[in-house]
Amino acid sequence: MWLILSVLLAIYFLRQLVNNVLPHFFLVPPQRWQDKFLKVISHQLSIYVPGSTLKRSSLRRRLILASSQPSFHTNFINNKLKLTPEDKSDSHEFMAETRKRDVDDPQRKLLFGFFHPYANNGGGGERVLWQAVKATLSANKRNICVIYTTNLDSEPLQIINKVKNKFQIDQLDSSRIVFIYLRKFGYLIDASYWKHFTILGQFLGTFLLSIEACFEVSPDVWVDTMGLPSSYLIAGKVLKIPIVAYVHYPILQTDMFNKLKYKSIVRDIVKIRSIGDFSSYVKLIYWSALYYIYIYLGSLVDITLTNGTWTYRHLSQIWIMNKGLGNILEILYPPCGTEFLTNSSTLLESKRENKLLYLAQFRPEKRHSLILKEYRRFLSKNYPNITTPNDFGGGSGGGLPTIVFAGSCRTKDDTATLESLRSQVDQLKLNEFVEFEIDISYARVVQLLSSCKFGLNAMWNEHFGIGVVEYMARGCIPIVHASAGPYLDIVTSSDDADEQRGFFFKSIDDPDFDPSIQDEIEIENGELIFDIQGSHKLFPTLEHLLTEMFITKRDLLTSDAKLSAIAKRGQKILDDKFSNKTFEKEWIKYLEIVDSLEKKYRNEKRDKLERVY
Ligand SMILES: *[C@@H]1O[C@H](CO)[C@@H](O)[C@H](O)[C@H]1NC(C)=O
Ligand SMILES: *[C@@H]1O[C@H](CO)[C@@H](O)[C@H](O)[C@H]1NC(C)=O
Ligand SMILES: *[C@@H]1O[C@H](CO)[C@@H](O)[C@H](O)[C@H]1NC(C)=O
Ligand SMILES: *[C@@H]1O[C@H](CO)[C@@H](O)[C@H](O)[C@H]1NC(C)=O
Repeated sequence: MWLILSVLLAIYFLRQLVNNVLPHFFLVPPQRWQDKFLKVISHQLSIYVPGSTLKRSSLRRRLILASSQPSFHTNFINNKLKLTPEDKSDSHEFMAETRKRDVDDPQRKLLFGFFHPYANNGGGGERVLWQAVKATLSANKRNICVIYTTNLDSEPLQIINKVKNKFQIDQLDSSRIVFIYLRKFGYLIDASYWKHFTILGQFLGTFLLSIEACFEVSPDVWVDTMGLPSSYLIAGKVLKIPIVAYVHYPILQTDMFNKLKYKSIVRDIVKIRSIGDFSSYVKLIYWSALYYIYIYLGSLVDITLTNGTWTYRHLSQIWIMNKGLGNILEILYPPCGTEFLTNSSTLLESKRENKLLYLAQFRPEKRHSLILKEYRRFLSKNYPNITTPNDFGGGSGGGLPTIVFAGSCRTKDDTATLESLRSQVDQLKLNEFVEFEIDISYARVVQLLSSCKFGLNAMWNEHFGIGVVEYMARGCIPIVHASAGPYLDIVTSSDDADEQRGFFFKSIDDPDFDPSIQDEIEIENGELIFDIQGSHKLFPTLEHLLTEMFITKRDLLTSDAKLSAIAKRGQKILDDKFSNKTFEKEWIKYLEIVDSLEKKYRNEKRDKLERVY
């Protein structure tokens, strides 16, 4: 009885906290807040707004929205609120801007809160962040971007400069970018901090960090570009604002949550056969709990954008509630930053060598050795007596293709892989046919991309494959394994010869190769059948493909005119899908939806007082 009562009471207080207390904290400024500003304006010397510790989120919000220079209101140095000297001297205009605006007022400014604690990192995730910021700023003059970061030792200008140098993203209107530094809970989102129950720990850390963020300044739109789902709670339930998530990688995947294991445990329990392994029950409960939390958090997101087909498929299997709720879940490819490689004068016209370039780190999953094996078979079958490429007539440009393995060797394991590859080359007597380019400069990579006719990729189920994008950007024709990113996102399959952008192969070494659907005759011919989404599709092995391309169907498949057309189509699809231009255009399209959601939620979900702030 008492237990039930106290639970009910706890729920009641929690609801109060979520619906009334926190929103007032985050959204509604203190009483007579404009007087605080007037005080500063009338004071000759000080620029500091007095007494604004606990409700600084809403006060800072007003400052940012009214200021002629929003970026001034960063908390890089400290958390004190102040007026810019311009706003102070231009006090009439500034005070006029602090007035409450109607929800539908077209002059109302919007704060886009980008929750990206590692904003100063230089990875692909940050490229997406900054391209999105640029697009948001250029979409509308009234948009202001707030960047929540934990990179405490990088000052705003440093970060902006890094963006410019690293990603060539310039012309950012930095006066509308407000950096909010989070000093308290940053360490809690680091996976290495949590030795056990890492994901749960990170959920908790993210939750606390998002509270800290909203305590510094509360935005009008929540944008998560780092994949931190427990930040959606505050944004969705307390602030009641639209949420946009750009997801690179689902935190949980369905295969982690093994259904078979679940069944066998249930069976054990039902038959009371044995208590079994206690820790496996705990694990099951832990993963199930996380899984359902993740589904719930996902359901709070209005617009989910995934970075490719692989992520999209996984996420749409997990965030199953979103479709029913009418939330958007779509693919928006990231900008790949390969514009500078695209140069039509370096297409085929520039006399490329008949080489197969494989740009990849030396790691087993890149399957260099599969290429060597298949290449050896290709040689032995067609030219059993050949020992060097020169034995084969045909001159430069035509003739026998040779291989270039270019890549970096970063770890001991990489070195071991490289060593075993070298000895495989010896063993297969391919020394004359294979070149290695280890740890080369990027300038050299570009040189190779411009001088080799073909680019290889043999990895099975590579999520994306930026290397393949680089091939195509520079006009290197891709010869790639038909799976995941290269197959579904980049080169993309098409049976129509006029649509061809590269060549595909598969292998009986593929983990998903199913001998039962395989027709023996076709194996002998070098063609393999694969079950792709229920449709049996034919793919050659690499050996078979090379034979066709360079011997049996040479005129048909690899004439200069043909290759040049393939290369041009490749560059076009990159421009359509992976360019910064396309990303910007698409992002702005989603912002229009965000805009109307923002108004809707403000009108429908917030109470009268909160609506205007
Ligand atoms: C999506 O993000 C994942 C994780 O960072 C990455 O492995 C993959 O290559 C990305 N896909 C694209 C299309 O960039
Ligand atoms: C394209 O490549 C050619 C030859 O390498 C070079 O001379 C030219 O400057 C490049 N153009 C651009 C726009 O990079
Ligand atoms: C390879 O060499 C052998 C022996 O020298 C010869 O009998 C055979 O005809 C050669 N094969 C080809 C395809 O040149
Ligand atoms: C895309 O990148 C290129 C080169 O990096 C740059 O010149 C161009 O302004 C960028 N466009 C957008 C929309 O960001």
